[in-house]
Amino acid sequence: MLAPQAPASNATRRYQLFIDGKWVDAESGKTFASINPATGETLAEVAEADAPDIDKAVQAARRAFEGKWSKVSARDRGRLLYKLAQLVEARAKELAELETLDNGKPIRESLYVDLPEVIEHFEYFAGMATKIEGETIPVPGRMFNYTLREPLGVCGAIIPWNYPLVMAAWKLAPALSAGNTVVLKPAEQTPITALELGKLVQEAGFPEGVVNIVPGFGERAGAALASHPGVDKIAFTGSTEVGKKIARAAAENLTKVSLELGGKAPNIIFADADLDQAVNGALMGIFFNQGQVCTAGSRIFLDERIKDEFLTRFRERAEQIRIGDPLDKQTQMGPQVSEEQLAKVRHYVNVAREEGATLLTGGEPPALDGPLARGYFFRPTIFTDVKNEMRVAQEEIFGPVAAVIAFKDEDELIKQANQTIYGLSAGVWTRDVTRAHRLAREIRAGVIWINTYNIFNAASPFGGYKQSGYGREMGKHAIELYTQVKSVWVDLSGRPIGWYNR
Ligand code: NAI
Ligand code: MG
Repeated sequence: MLAPQAPASNATRRYQLFIDGKWVDAESGKTFASINPATGETLAEVAEADAPDIDKAVQAARRAFEGKWSKVSARDRGRLLYKLAQLVEARAKELAELETLDNGKPIRESLYVDLPEVIEHFEYFAGMATKIEGETIPVPGRMFNYTLREPLGVCGAIIPWNYPLVMAAWKLAPALSAGNTVVLKPAEQTPITALELGKLVQEAGFPEGVVNIVPGFGERAGAALASHPGVDKIAFTGSTEVGKKIARAAAENLTKVSLELGGKAPNIIFADADLDQAVNGALMGIFFNQGQVCTAGSRIFLDERIKDEFLTRFRERAEQIRIGDPLDKQTQMGPQVSEEQLAKVRHYVNVAREEGATLLTGGEPPALDGPLARGYFFRPTIFTDVKNEMRVAQEEIFGPVAAVIAFKDEDELIKQANQTIYGLSAGVWTRDVTRAHRLAREIRAGVIWINTYNIFNAASPFGGYKQSGYGREMGKHAIELYTQVKSVWVDLSGRPIGWYNR
C-alpha cells in the first residue's frame, strides 16, 4: 500500500481519502489546504471529499458491515481495537506533533492529554466488545423471551477541530466495539491526524471498508453524509447550529442521531472555596485549549465576598500564561484554530464592551515576532461586571474569553446558572459538601465537576442537557448509541396457538 504522505517534515504533506481500505483521490480531483494556525502556512494538501466520495465510502462501509466484519467475533473486534491502541501509543509523539501543527494546541496538551485519552478510549472499548449483552425477560406463560443487542450498521461520524484525534476516537471506538462500520468526516480545519489514524487502522488489520475517512467541507461532504439514505446513524460533535441542520437532514431518512453540541458552562466559585484551587480551576476552565472546549467554564459566577481577592489573583495568573510556539513544551497557549475563529473572538470582545462589561485583561492579540506574528493568537481575556443576560454570557464564543458574573445568594445563582439554552457542564468550588451535592442536583447539565474541571474518562458518560445535545458518549452508555435491541420470543409449550382452534 502506498504511503499517503510525503515524509519530509517541512515540505507540504499530501493526503488522500481512505475508502474501502485504499488511499484514493477525490472523484473531483480537488484538494484543500490544511493550515498551521501558528504561522498561517499551508501544512498539507488534502483530497477533498464531496457527495460522490461519501457515497463510495458509505457503500464500502455497507459491504464491510454485511460481509467480513459481521463474521468477526466480539473478541477479535476487541483485539483489533487493542492493537490500534498500541499502534497509537507507539506513535504518540509524532501524532501529538502533527495535532499541534494542524490545530495549534500546545504540545504539552496534545502529548499529555489528547494522546493518552485516545489510547485510553481504544483500550476501554476493546475490553467492552465482549461485554455487550442481551437480557432474559421474565414474561408470563410458557414463553422464553430474550433480547439481542445488535450493531446499527453504517455509522457516519462528523467531528470538529478542537480535539481532532480525541473526537475520532470517541466515535470510532464504541462504534467498532459494537460491530458497526464507520464513515468518518474530520473537520476541514484539522484533517491530518484522523488520516494518520487511518494508516494505523490499516496496520492493525481491520478488514477493508470497516473504517473510511473522508475529509471535506461541512456543507458538502458533511451534508452528503448526514442526508445519505445508506447511513444508519450519525454521530455529531460541533456547533448547536449545525447540530440542528444534521438532525433535520437525518429526519428525512429517520437516521438515528446523537449530538454533542455547544455549551456556556457556569463555573461557580463560593466564598468558602480553596482560593488557590478555584483560581487554577477557573484558568483551566476557560483557557485550556485556547478556550476552544465545548465544556469551557466561560461564565464564572463569583461570590461577591471574595470578588476582589479572586479577581486580583485570576488576572495575575491569566497574564502569566505563556503564549507562543505551540511546539515548545513551555508554551501554555497557542493560536486559535483559524482566522475565522480569531475573528469571532475579536467580535465578541467588541460585543462585550458595547454591552457595558469591563475588560480586566486581554482583549487583543499578543505581540509575537517572526512567523508567529502571522498566527491566530489572542490573549487570555477576562470581562467583569457581566450580567447573565448579556450576549457575552449567553452565546458560545469558543475562545479564551471569561465572563465574570458576581452573585450574592445561592437561589438566585442557581436560577441564573440555569438561564441558558445550553446544559453541557458546570463547575462548583466550595468546601461545603452539602452545598456541593445540592448544586450537582440543581444545575441542569450533563457533567458537574466539584472542586475540579475538564476531567474526562472513557468509562464515565458524557453529553448534554437542553440544546447541548442528546445521547451519552463514553462508558457503557456509548454502547447504547451504537446498538439496537431485538426481542426474541420462543414458545416453549410445544402446542399450537389456541386462539383460532374453535
Ligand atoms: P461546525 O459545527 O460548523 O463544524 C463541526 C463539523 O461539522 C465539521 O466537521 C464541519 O465540517 C461539519 N459541518 C459543518 N456544516 C455542516 C453541515 N451543514 N452538514 C454536515 N456537517 C457540517 O463548527 P465550526 O464552524 O467549525 O465552528 C463554529 C462554532 O461552533 C465555534 O465557534 C464553536 O462555538 C462551535 N463548535 C463547538 C464544538 C463543540 O465541541 N461543541 C466544536 C467546534 C465548534
Ligand atoms: Mg461551520
